[in-house]
Formats: sequence, C-alpha cells, structure tokens
Amino acid sequence: MTENRPHQPPRLPFVERGQLLCYLHETWALTDWLFSSVVDRSLFLQRPDPLRNPLVFYLGHPAAFYLNKLRLAGLLEDGLDDELDELLARGVDPAHRRELDGQGGWPSAEVVWRYRDEARRLVEEVVERGPTTLEIDASSPYWAILMALEHERIHFETSSVLLRQAPLGALRRPVGWCYAPSDGPSTSDATTGRREALASSAQSQTSSSALDDPTQESDASVHLPEQRVRVGRGAGAPIFGWDNEFGELECAVTAFYASRTLVRNRDFLRFVEAGGYHEPRYWSAEGWRWRTEQRALAPRFWRQSADGVRYRAMFDELALPLSWPVEVNHYEAEAYCAYRGDGWRLPSEAEQLALTQLTLPAAVDAIDVDRFNLNLRHGSPRASVVSGDEPLADAFGNVWQWLADDFYPLPGFRPHRLYEDFSAPYFGAAHKMMLGGSWASTGACASRFYRLWFRPYFYQHAGFRLVRSAE
Ligand SMILES: [Fe+2]
Repeated sequence: MTENRPHQPPRLPFVERGQLLCYLHETWALTDWLFSSVVDRSLFLQRPDPLRNPLVFYLGHPAAFYLNKLRLAGLLEDGLDDELDELLARGVDPAHRRELDGQGGWPSAEVVWRYRDEARRLVEEVVERGPTTLEIDASSPYWAILMALEHERIHFETSSVLLRQAPLGALRRPVGWCYAPSDGPSTSDATTGRREALASSAQSQTSSSALDDPTQESDASVHLPEQRVRVGRGAGAPIFGWDNEFGELECAVTAFYASRTLVRNRDFLRFVEAGGYHEPRYWSAEGWRWRTEQRALAPRFWRQSADGVRYRAMFDELALPLSWPVEVNHYEAEAYCAYRGDGWRLPSEAEQLALTQLTLPAAVDAIDVDRFNLNLRHGSPRASVVSGDEPLADAFGNVWQWLADDFYPLPGFRPHRLYEDFSAPYFGAAHKMMLGGSWASTGACASRFYRLWFRPYFYQHAGFRLVRSAE
C-alpha cells in the first residue's frame, strides 16, 4: 500500500469546514507528491506525450482551475495573475500533433510552483472564511471547490500517465510510492538496478500458487443472465458528481459471458508473439492507420530488450509482470478481441454495470474496500487474479476498462454552469468510454458513478475485459 493512501470524498450535503480543509490539503499533497518525482527540471518544459502540453502546464493547471471556478462561483473576486490564470486554464485534446504546433512561451517550473503555492493559500482562505458547516449541493457556490478538488484528482492520474512516458533518468520514485508484488519472469535482473522497486513484495495479497493456477486464464468465464440495468445516478448525490453521471437510463442486457480476469500481459504477449501487430485483419481501419503511423509493435509501456520484454512501471523498469493486466489503447484492445475470435469483444457500459453488480451492492457509492486496487492501494497495477469465491477479478480498479461504447449523454443531460465544456464537447464517436477506475483513481474518480472517456489512441492506466454474447 502506498503511504499516502487518500481518504474518501466528503459526504454531502453537510460538510464540516475542517473536513473540507483536510480533503483539500490531501488533494494538493497528492499533486506535490507526484511532481516531486521530477529531478531533472528541464523535463517540465518537455511533452512526454507529444499530444499533450508540456509538463509544466499540468503542474499549474489544477491551481488555475480552482481560481477560475471560484471566481465564476462568486467565492473569489480576483485571480492571481491574468496571464497565468488564462495560460493554465485549459488542457488540450488534439486529434493530431500539428494542432499543437506554434504553441510556446511556457513559464519555468519555479514560476509555476510559486503560482501553485499562492493559489493554494487563496483557496484555503476562502474555505476558512466560510461557515463551519457547509451545506453543499450542485447549485451551491461551494460545489466549485468540490469540482476543483475532483478535477485535481483527475489530473493526478492523467499526469501520472505522462510521467510514465518520461525518461527514467529525469525521475526518481517518490518516498512512499510502492508497487504491487511483481511476477515477472525474472525480477532479480532489473537492468536499472533499482531492485528496491520490488521491496513492497512483502505486501503480497496473492499467493504464488494462485498466480500459477492454469484455471485463472482470462478465457475462464462467468455467465450473466439476461437482466435490466440502470445506467446513471439520481440527483440526490451522496458525493460530488460530474454532469455526465446524472440521468437515468434503463437498459436491457441480454445474457453474456465475461472473462473472470482482465486480459493480462501474459495473454497479450501471445498476441504480440503471434504477429498481431503485423496483421491488418485484426485491426479496425482507423486502428491499423494508427498502428502503421506510430509503428507500434507492442503496448506503449513494454520495451523489447535482449533479456526479453521489459515493463515500464511509473518510475522504474521491471521484467514484464505476466499476471498484471495489460495496459493498451482502444485500438489495441479491439485488435486483441479480433485475434481471440469466437465472438469475444469489449463490453458495453450496461454489460460492465451488470458485472459490477455481481460483486458490489448497489448501495455502495465510493468504493474503498480492500479487495480492489483503487485509491492508491498500490502504486501500480497488481495481478488480476480471482480470489476466494469472488465471481470475477477486478470488477473495479487495477486498471480502467475500455468499453465498446462511444461517450454518450444520459437522458436529461445538462452541463453544469460552472464547467459547461467538461463533457458536452466529447460526446460522439471520437471518444470511447471506460469504467472502473485504476490504482491511481482517488476521490470521486474511484466511485461507481464515474464515467471516463478518451480518444481511442490515448493511453491511460487502462486495459480491458473480454465478453461475448451467450446466444
Ligand atoms: Fe483539466
């Protein structure tokens, strides 16, 4: 378990001021902790992912977001610095790298760290000036603070994906960041020499006999009967929610089978070794175009070496942990389904929710039970293994799970006035959905309600489960 394992989001509608301050301190500390990994300051002006802004933007963006939203809600009169408030206001979601050409003029990391510290003081003052007990719902000005807190937690996760793509030499694993026990073929020959990365193996919850159990193949499946599933949540939110989560949709789900584990590195390795990245028949037209342009030959966090496949964890390189879920983009997940054949495919949102209900009572909203790898239980994925009498592994957490669905609005969708373009611009075929949260999801991101979307070629800490129709 990571030492900085965070708390749950505040329960609504009544929130004690002290509790809100505590959640605020913790949220900011998470970002500080993550970026404390950057030991080469020049990294801040680089783009670890060419389709994202330089890292310094993501250091300052959550802070600017607080100021901008608190002003919009009437809790603050002024920001800190017109130029920085504006420059750091909005992220990017480009379809092509060329959309980012010509951007420049980024401030130094020192300037942005200072901006962040000053913004934090302003936000704390707003909370400290407020009533000792706050009554917060979606129409309250204090919703802006909850929104900014959850926004920062979203960026904790997306920034972690960026850092995972940065050169190892520019980073140092922060104190207290522990990976799950690894089951790579040989963890003693780490080329980085960072054997201490595996020091957390004493925390293993999974016996090696479970890892070796041949019945734990991802094609061992569970049957789900025909059923009706409710998508979305009602307005009486016990915790903060984003606009796209509200609304109700009843869906009929026909009977289907689902793999009991997520697709794991060991499963995906067979696809790679069978030449899957060289076979257009497994890929959608768009997916093949992406694969060809990127010259992709394996998942982004794998590296072929003389010793076999190496695996990029957050701050270290390890031997490929065979039982951990594979992390891929949507195109790669689809291609693997086609390779497996027999009708295997990605689940719909309704099917994924049916799977959720197998393992978690509907009354549970924020999920922090010990059987899921959420909320920084580990600082990495862990083995996807069915334990005890659970019907399946990883109904939540470990890695996000790609769905077949395009991102879509629920009936009655209304953008929130404080963030009109949070979801609305992204509905449609350009963005694919995922559910379930990852090890790095905290706060409301780790709730059963959270719906996430990305372009199909983006990387998150995301993998997938196989399903197929029963008829
Ligand atoms: Fe953002």
